[in-house]
Amino acid sequence: MEKRRQPHKRIVFVCTNQRAPGERVCCADRGGAELRDRLKAMVKERGLRGRIRVSQSGCLDRCEDGPNIMVFPDNVWYAGVRPDDLDAILDDAIASLRAEGALPRGYDDVPRSTGTEAPA
Ligand code: FES
Repeated sequence: MEKRRQPHKRIVFVCTNQRAPGERVCCADRGGAELRDRLKAMVKERGLRGRIRVSQSGCLDRCEDGPNIMVFPDNVWYAGVRPDDLDAILDDAIASLRAEGALPRGYDDVPRSTGTEAPA
């Protein structure tokens, strides 16, 4: 075994746990996998691969509050996440990276679409 420092500045764990029908509620039934996929795409779009790792997780034991997302090592937990919340979650992670000077040199966050721009 080799003991190393973690290679990613942030790891965003998205619960995608799936349960059988009739069992306790689960994040998969509330869109966990879709949130994971969208967040992965957003990290790529915003040029933060290698800094922020989006990873699916198993059950985080707060199923009734899901879908749940946890950001490590920021010690931040998001419950009841909806797709519209992902920009804010990523903004928080970027702000945290910026505060510790961990963004790539010259990084200037890619402006997000507001959905209100006129078509080209
Ligand atoms: S299924 Fe997501 S916290 Fe349990």
